[in-house]
Amino acid sequence: MTKRKHQHFAENATFPHFFQPGFELLQSGFPLKGKWRSDFFKNDNPVVIELGCGKGEFTTGLAARYPGKNFIGIDLKGARMWRGARTSFDAGMPNVAFVRTHIELIEFVFSQDEVDEIWITFPDPFPEKPRTKKRLTSPQFLNRFRKVAGRRAVVHLKTDNTPFFEFSLGIIEEQNLDLLFHTFDVDKNPGSDDVVSIRTFYEEMFREKGERIKYLRFNLFPSGKSDS
Ligand SMILES: C[S@@+](CC[C@H](N)C(=O)[O-])C[C@H]1O[C@@H](n2cnc3c(N)ncnc32)[C@H](O)[C@@H]1O
Repeated sequence: MTKRKHQHFAENATFPHFFQPGFELLQSGFPLKGKWRSDFFKNDNPVVIELGCGKGEFTTGLAARYPGKNFIGIDLKGARMWRGARTSFDAGMPNVAFVRTHIELIEFVFSQDEVDEIWITFPDPFPEKPRTKKRLTSPQFLNRFRKVAGRRAVVHLKTDNTPFFEFSLGIIEEQNLDLLFHTFDVDKNPGSDDVVSIRTFYEEMFREKGERIKYLRFNLFPSGKSDS
């Protein structure tokens, strides 16, 4: 590990809004599960999570824009997350937190109905066929999200990857979910200002390569069905 990375890991451990619960703690009962609003944010505002947040540009960017919502970035890579944690700490942002964990474990981090909105920004597309269940918009992941989200939850996806985007559109159709908006090029048709005004590290990389940025949003639960 480089010295810089080591420093960032050490700093992460000092941030009051940076959590890295081990699997044992998650299994035995993460103290903030079901209590993010009351015990951490100390308000009753909506909770928005970003999955695979990397450096947390979306988490911090949206948090600055929406002080009336709470934002939590989730990723495995602490060195990347440090950037967002440092920025939000220095800015004294009360509505930001980060959790370093596997997305597969979110049901241990949040309780049912605790999450109002989910952002997925430039996830790994896992192009090989046998790995489709690893894609964040696969039925397996959508079921994990349903264990923590309220029934009105909306999922946003931004990606450069056309096959992954089409795969996601296919799942939305297959599951009979409401597709609220989609575009194959946010520069032509952004859908909302948030989509184009905040750019992540990976987005900048893909834009430099000339990739078009795609975006969609959909209801996580089928309309008219119960989430039990
Ligand atoms: C391609 S990067 C995108 C990062 C950021 N969203 C961006 O746009 O710059 C994908 C991120 O997802 C994280 N990731 C991938 N699989 C994960 C998992 N199962 N649990 C937690 N994080 C994961 C990686 O560590 C990485 O930071």
